[in-house]
Amino acid sequence: MRVLVTGGAGFIGSHTVALLLERGCDVRILDVLQPPVHRERRWPPYLPPGVQRLEGSVTDPAAWRDALRDVQAVVHLAAYQDYLPNFSRFFQVNAAGTALLYELLVAEPVLAKGIKKVVVATSQAVYGEGRYLCPVHGIQFPGQRPLEQLERREWEPRCPVGGETMTPQTTSEDDPPRPHNQYGISKLSQELICLNLGLRYGIPTVAMRYSITQGPHQSFTNPYSGALRIFVQRLLHGRQPVVYEDGSQLRDYVSVQDVAQANALVLEDGRADFQALNVGGGRALTVLEYAAVVGRALGRPVAPEVPGRFRLGDTRHIHSDVSRLRALGWEPRGSLEEAAAAYAEWAQSQADFRDYTEEGATTLAEQGVVRGASPAG
Ligand SMILES: NC(=O)c1ccc[n+]([C@@H]2O[C@H](COP(=O)([O-])OP(=O)(O)OC[C@H]3O[C@@H](n4cnc5c(N)ncnc54)[C@H](O)[C@@H]3O)[C@@H](O)[C@H]2O)c1
Repeated sequence: MRVLVTGGAGFIGSHTVALLLERGCDVRILDVLQPPVHRERRWPPYLPPGVQRLEGSVTDPAAWRDALRDVQAVVHLAAYQDYLPNFSRFFQVNAAGTALLYELLVAEPVLAKGIKKVVVATSQAVYGEGRYLCPVHGIQFPGQRPLEQLERREWEPRCPVGGETMTPQTTSEDDPPRPHNQYGISKLSQELICLNLGLRYGIPTVAMRYSITQGPHQSFTNPYSGALRIFVQRLLHGRQPVVYEDGSQLRDYVSVQDVAQANALVLEDGRADFQALNVGGGRALTVLEYAAVVGRALGRPVAPEVPGRFRLGDTRHIHSDVSRLRALGWEPRGSLEEAAAAYAEWAQSQADFRDYTEEGATTLAEQGVVRGASPAG
């Protein structure tokens, strides 16, 4: 089978490409080598040999036409990911780029003829805050936390009915998506586009809602790639990580090998068709607990700084239920310590590895994304 992997030069893409090659697929990549993910727009050296590389954008019909020729499946991973307030760009790449794929498949039957499956990367970000339990009003799906609340360092979402403090719960695919940042909204748009158009036109499609993915090849120059990048860069340069809010945000972290396995599984398994599936680590950790995991993996003491900064648009807690993907035979097997150690080892072997976190934080502060709360007390 020949598989087109868009965004195949990126983090999840490169591991998916390697796994598909191992399984005997022919693989073609379409990637625009977008800075700052890729510095100087070069093909990264970690890409395995034997892969056809096309440089082009998923917003360009001509690039899609070239890339789709004689392929039997598409794994669509290319995306714009950032915290910056250039809102329209998220939709141009993530939503319109995906709509363009289906537009071409429907308009030009020669392109669609051999296609058996389209796997689209969406995100846990589609849930926004996800599911909570209010002691008085039961299950709730709160919206974004008001800015004034965050400025007062009141980090926990309040019950939308009575304002009570709530307990975060595991969020499943049946829960309502309520994204509130530009990335999450664009990912939900992408999901609605691919699942609905796929169903209408008989193009088997699966939407994969990855949780925070960790492992080697995660861009160390892209301020969007998260906690592992920041913690490792800081710790390996003798600095402590700075965590947002109070560090008690719950997240689940999944290893990139497990994500690649999930992509490969749904590519073959018709039971996944026309569904959105969570792909998570199965275990919730606070950001501070995750910092300790990274510290252990690196053998460095960790005492994160907690200055009360926050990122506008962040969710407080999110933890995905992965039982639906488990029922298809998938299991999150990767250890978080191993993923962190492997990332650190890979990053240190790169000539341009240094601590980029100050530059990233400065840009986000200048753009009003990272803000400071009122002094504690
Ligand atoms: N990494 C995570 O934790 C995570 C979590 C949830 C969802 N996702 C999703 O998984 C997918 C892959 O993410 P990643 O972490 O590997 O990101 P990445 O930035 O490492 O890789 C994305 C790749 O897409 C390419 N790209 C960007 N815009 C493009 C365009 N217009 N045309 C063609 N190529 C383009 C980039 O050059 C890059 O190589 C994305 O769709 C992302 O939204 C990632």
